[in-house]
Parts: sequence; C-alpha cells; structure tokens
Amino acid sequence: MNKSLYIGLMSGTSLDAIDVALCRFTEKDTSIIEFQALPLPEQIQSEISTFSHSKEINIELLAALDIKLGRLFSEAALGILKSTSYDRTDIAAIGSHGQTIRHKPKSAETTFPFSLQIGDPNTIAETTGITTIADFRRRDIAAGGEGAPLVPAFHQAVFSSEKLRRAIVNIGGFANVTLLDGNRLAGGFDTGPGNSLLDGWIMQHLAQPFDSNGDWAGGGKVNEDLLSGLLSEEYFLKKEPKSTGKELFNIEWLNTKLQKLGKDIPKQNVQSTLSELTAKSIRMAISDFNAHEVYICGGGAHNTDLFDRLRKHFAPTKVESIEKLGFEADHIEAAAFAWLSYRTLHGLTCNSPISTGASGDRILGAIFQA
Ligand SMILES: Nc1ncnc2c1ncn2[C@@H]1O[C@H](COP(=O)(O)OP(=O)(O)OP(=O)(O)O)[C@@H](O)[C@H]1O
Ligand SMILES: [Mg+2]
Repeated sequence: MNKSLYIGLMSGTSLDAIDVALCRFTEKDTSIIEFQALPLPEQIQSEISTFSHSKEINIELLAALDIKLGRLFSEAALGILKSTSYDRTDIAAIGSHGQTIRHKPKSAETTFPFSLQIGDPNTIAETTGITTIADFRRRDIAAGGEGAPLVPAFHQAVFSSEKLRRAIVNIGGFANVTLLDGNRLAGGFDTGPGNSLLDGWIMQHLAQPFDSNGDWAGGGKVNEDLLSGLLSEEYFLKKEPKSTGKELFNIEWLNTKLQKLGKDIPKQNVQSTLSELTAKSIRMAISDFNAHEVYICGGGAHNTDLFDRLRKHFAPTKVESIEKLGFEADHIEAAAFAWLSYRTLHGLTCNSPISTGASGDRILGAIFQA
C-alpha cells in the first residue's frame, strides 16, 4: 500500500458544516494539503436536531437521513478532489466520523452504553469509488471505553514535543483536552460544554447561529451565582475517563438551572456566564497537569471573548491558537479522522485507552472497500 493521501470527514455537534481535510500521511510527514467546510443545509440541520433530542424516533426517517448524509459526505469528499489536481484513485481512504445522533457512554444508569453516528459509509464508498472507513467509536465502547475522545492519539502524533507539557484543547460544540507530557499521552477527555450552550442561547434570544467573536458575551457581566450553579453539575467533578454531549448539556439543562436560581438574569449576562463556564471548566479540568503551553483548536478558537477568558484563567501560562504550531484551528478534527483511517488501513491501533478507558489498544472502525 503506497498511497499516502487520505480524506477526513467530520460533522460535529455544532451542525455548522461538514469539514473535509485532504491530508498526506507518511512515516515522516503529516500535512494537510487542502481543507473545505461544506455548510450543512438548514433542513438537514433541523432533521439532525430532531433526532438528537426526541425520545421517540421514526425509524424510516432516521434510516433515510443516514443515506442523505452519506450522499452529502460523498459530495464533500468529491468536492475537495475537484478543487485539487487529485483523482479518486490517488486516495488511499476516506475516514468518516459520521454525524452523532446520540452518545450514551457507560454510567450507573446505562446498561447498554452506545454512541450512534450516521452517514452511510456504503454510500460514500459506492459514490466516491474510494475505500471508506467509518464507525470509529463503537469498538472502543465494546472494549469498555467511552468511545470518545478519539483525537488524543492524533494530537500526540502531531503536537507532542519532547521536553514540554502541552495541553491541546479542542473547542467544538463540546470541549475536549489532550494532555501531552513530552511525547507521552498523559490523558484526554471531554471537559464539558464548548460552544454548544453559547450557540443555543444566542439562537434562542437573538436568532443568530453563534456569537460572532463572542461580542455579545463580551459586552455582558458574569453572574457568579449562576456560574456556581452550573459548575455544581456532577460531570465537572467526575474523574476521567469521561465524555459528554447534548444528552446532558443542552438548553433545557440551562433553563432548569436558571429556574432553580429563581432570579431574572439579563439575557446578555447569561451569555457571558456561559462563556465563563466553558473557560473555567477547561481550566479546572486540567489544573493538576501544570501545562507549559496550552493550544486551542476548533471553532472556539475564533471566539475572542472566550479566548480572553482562557488566557486570564491560565495566566501566566501562555494560551495560543494551534496556528502557532503551523495548523489552522478549524482543520484539526477532520484531519484527525483522516489519520484514524490511515491507522486502521495499516492495521494499527488508535483508541488510546488512557483517554477512553477501554480495556486495551484497539484498531478502530470498519473498512468499506472501494
Ligand atoms: N468567528 C466566530 N466567533 C465565535 N464563535 C465561532 C466563530 N467561528 C466559529 N465559532 C464557533 O465554533 C463552532 C463550530 O466549531 P466546530 O466546527 O469546531 O465544532 P463542531 O462542529 O461541534 O465540531 P466537533 O464536534 O468536531 O468539535 C460554531 O458553532 C461557533 O460556536
Ligand atoms: Mg463544525
């Protein structure tokens, strides 16, 4: 197998876009050659949201959405080839994360832990003519892990530095950290909400999909009572390995906390408090690690207000965008799934049990041949 090009497809919980990264992986080189973000059509966003929230699901609609997303993912993969000089025959594999519909890792209340991603990989392999690797999370869950986060092994491969303790923080819908002690992976877990509550609150009150640069949050004032109410959630105190999602941290969760407080807090101050919640929960989660350097990736890297709060909490430790290490903040997650497909295609493990809690190293995903 001597092809070295891989395509990673990632559609996260924010439902903003399908991220596509065309990457080159060899033993010596990891590079992102091209990146595109294909916005998710509103209709699809709303269908995904419905399935993510509703308790009762129409199985036919869900199965149809699986195919619709498979076609969209195929379009996204073919789109990136079109804008480069590469042909499908140049690509070793596509690594497709899929769209998470529900993530229920092990807990006292769950007898049958699972993580469900859709976006039919058969359709992707058939439409693109490229071998497609998907379903990365479930083997790790079967091995007793959380199935998440899966990016720490990629962060370790690309961002570790022999003499430094580095924390890599991805702020998507939810936030996850990777702790790198020199070249060793010291940990990796979800810290809690990233942008999801910020997006949800501003959508509810200003009908905007996200708080551009964090301007709305930045103009308000943190409500300390609300902040401590939110931080009292058990998840923040739980020991890792741990992973989370919309099943816990959603607008209903926030509304319940607000009701409990029984005060009428100005909407903008709630937004500021949510921004502070993301920053503070990240800081608290990794305070024992004593990082020399903290790097931010994911869409949250564009939120100036959030970034300022992180800098304040970590001072005097420097907090920088991952751009300092030569990669764009938005490219990392999709590149990680391209890399996971590279590992699987070569029969290599990549679940990093120290972060997922699985009982051992596993090769992840299923291969759908071209
Ligand atoms: N200019 C900006 N200002 C403020 N927030 C931004 C800006 N650009 C992006 N974002 C935030 O980033 C989010 C998208 O981030 P990203 O794509 O990393 O998350 P995701 O799709 O949930 O991915 P994943 O689950 O893989 O981490 C948006 O929903 C928004 O909240
Ligand atoms: Mg996204």
